[in-house]
Amino acid sequence: MTTVPVLEDLLPLEGKRVLLRADFNVPVHDGQITDDLRIKAALPTIAWLQEHGATVVACTHFGRPKGQPDPKYDVAPIRARLAELAPGVELLDNLRFDAGEEGNDPAFTARLIEGFDAYVNDAFGASHRAHASIVGPPQHLPSAAGRLLAKEVEVLGGLRSQPNRPFVAVLGGSKVSDKLKVIEALLEVADEVLIGGGMCFTFLKAQGHQVGSSLCEDDMVPTCKALLDAGAAIRLPSDVTALGPGGEIGNPAAGGDVRQLGVNVPDGWMGLDIGPGSSADFADAVLDARTVFWNGPMGVFEDPRFEAGTRTLAEAVADSHAFTVVGGGDSAAAVAQFGLASRIDHISTGGGASLELLELGDLPGLAALRGEWTAS
Ligand code: 3PG
Ligand code: MG
Repeated sequence: MTTVPVLEDLLPLEGKRVLLRADFNVPVHDGQITDDLRIKAALPTIAWLQEHGATVVACTHFGRPKGQPDPKYDVAPIRARLAELAPGVELLDNLRFDAGEEGNDPAFTARLIEGFDAYVNDAFGASHRAHASIVGPPQHLPSAAGRLLAKEVEVLGGLRSQPNRPFVAVLGGSKVSDKLKVIEALLEVADEVLIGGGMCFTFLKAQGHQVGSSLCEDDMVPTCKALLDAGAAIRLPSDVTALGPGGEIGNPAAGGDVRQLGVNVPDGWMGLDIGPGSSADFADAVLDARTVFWNGPMGVFEDPRFEAGTRTLAEAVADSHAFTVVGGGDSAAAVAQFGLASRIDHISTGGGASLELLELGDLPGLAALRGEWTAS
């Protein structure tokens, strides 16, 4: 299992200046942070460093500016929230305002670490990026994982190595092509992989069903068929909730019938959620499991007509006696929207990073902390 140096490895820190790479890439609407989970998640690391006498300066990326300053991605709202939560911690400007960050430019790394005595990576959500602030500083400064990063590695690494069984993985989201690698990796370690969300239609088509106007990646159908034919432990929905002709996603006023269908979706209809039978079936599997990993919504839960599958699954994950892990991104947002976050054992702060860690067992940011990162 992957190990990383931890904060204790940096002692003594009295009077030292520590550069903290955090992932404060939080949702901001109209200048207001709508979810500060990622800022709060770094607080234990900051508190520990301060208790041990260090001065902490934080840095983060925010959004995807194109390598130059862009007022839309100013970290000012994040800086203000951080000042409330962790007084005395300075926050540098958005790392991605400089093309050297994503380009992993050694000159950018050199400027970034100037005046620092040590480096701490607590940016789990960005540790799958081989960017300068992630892989650069450990090549020059004593470096360690913060508490959040260490916990993510322990939990997600643990799923790969010795999960309590049965281990049920539930995957949703729109694209099979994005998740194929992680589906294959999960099939190696989980007892069963349940597939919902938009990507289930590519699998249903591979089984010979009609998908109507539902999301479907035709070029992935043969790959899905090969997996199913090989007897992979994949469970698919047995019914779906679909929107009829004329309907619009997110706009009930536009009309269009909403119906429960089996696994065949007629022309002009669009499957947008797993149906009630599948929801109950998936919930049963989660309730009987001893380890659960969930990433990706079961349907378009932002539209109340298509939230039932995701809600039922989220409730089952919350109720389950299993050790439950929810991947970041949309599934974490769903759990928060349904008020269930406190009943999940571990909600990852990383979407792409958690999937990549499950898939590969390592990340560029972790390899860098171990002194083993090399550009490939
Ligand atoms: C995220 O929110 O996914 C992480 O902060 C990484 O951001 P990125 O996908 O823009 O690299
Ligand atoms: Mg992302």
